[in-house]
Amino acid sequence: MTKEIYLTGITTTGTPHIGNYVGAIRPCIEASHNKDIRNFYFLADLHALAKAEDPERIARSTLEISAAWLALGLDTENACFYRQSDIPEIPELTWILTSMTSKGLMNRAHSYKAQVQNNIDSGAIDQDRGINMALFSYPILMAADILMFKSTKVPVGRDQKQHIEMTRDIAQRFNHNFGDILVVPEAIISEETALLAGLDGRKMSKSYDNIIPLFANEKQLRKLIMKIKTNSLEPGVPKDPKDSVLYDIYSAFAMPEEILNIKKLYANGLAWGEMKNILFECINDQLKPAREEYQKLIDDPAQIEVQLKKGADRAREISVPYIQEIRNAIGIRKLV
Ligand code: TRP
Repeated sequence: MTKEIYLTGITTTGTPHIGNYVGAIRPCIEASHNKDIRNFYFLADLHALAKAEDPERIARSTLEISAAWLALGLDTENACFYRQSDIPEIPELTWILTSMTSKGLMNRAHSYKAQVQNNIDSGAIDQDRGINMALFSYPILMAADILMFKSTKVPVGRDQKQHIEMTRDIAQRFNHNFGDILVVPEAIISEETALLAGLDGRKMSKSYDNIIPLFANEKQLRKLIMKIKTNSLEPGVPKDPKDSVLYDIYSAFAMPEEILNIKKLYANGLAWGEMKNILFECINDQLKPAREEYQKLIDDPAQIEVQLKKGADRAREISVPYIQEIRNAIGIRKLV
């Protein structure tokens, strides 16, 4: 039986936070040990450019994300872990696919349309103000990422679903014109992609400035947890776990029987300050060993480069011959 191929990309635009950890990093690391599937995980640094980020920020984010995944025990023997920009066949495939993708398809992309709508709402004369071509063509680069490795399954958040549908459209059209060469992938949308709440109760996101960095040191971690918003119920007054950010975050880290116990304590009027201490201890215990490893890697990025090189070499064993096949199909060939 041929193995399913799972592939997912992480855009290198920020510091990994505990929301990323619970929603994406932790499940991916777990899956990286599964021998029944082939896993591809990559740092989408070319995608980061679409946001016209500052160079230092992209470089720092690449370092932090790769150090985090490795420190948390990613199995780089079983899974393939690489940096998108180390695979020159990806931008080549992007251009090939760009040539066969109708502009109308890209006009319909939600993220592009949202930006246009922002411009209209703010009364701009140019609807495309501030929109670069990388943002516009973003779904095509993503299609190339996915199609380059014959991925069959692409686990993503709901916001990326349309991009996978576009990838399917692009692949089907290619195959219709040039023969059965590309593999049409399926999206896997994890419903409970835990949307962890942040310090202020809104979704944890760097754009809201409400994150808890995954590897904040103990002092920072404690300080941030102390800042989490609660209601003003006094100690001794029963509390409802349902609208408690502290409880939500705790549930993402604790064992089922610990969660049950906290529910009882809530009903008995646990003080918020006490709950914050419990949450701190719980997260800190879990992340402490990886945090030390993370720090070692950050201080010695050469170790990370070795891993990324290994990943890129393995990825290119696939992409180099495959791009030849694709070139051949579309008429980019040697003359003799
Ligand atoms: N666009 C994705 C995101 O923002 C990241 C990404 C880039 C990706 N290329 C991909 C995800 C390919 C899955 C497959 O989350």
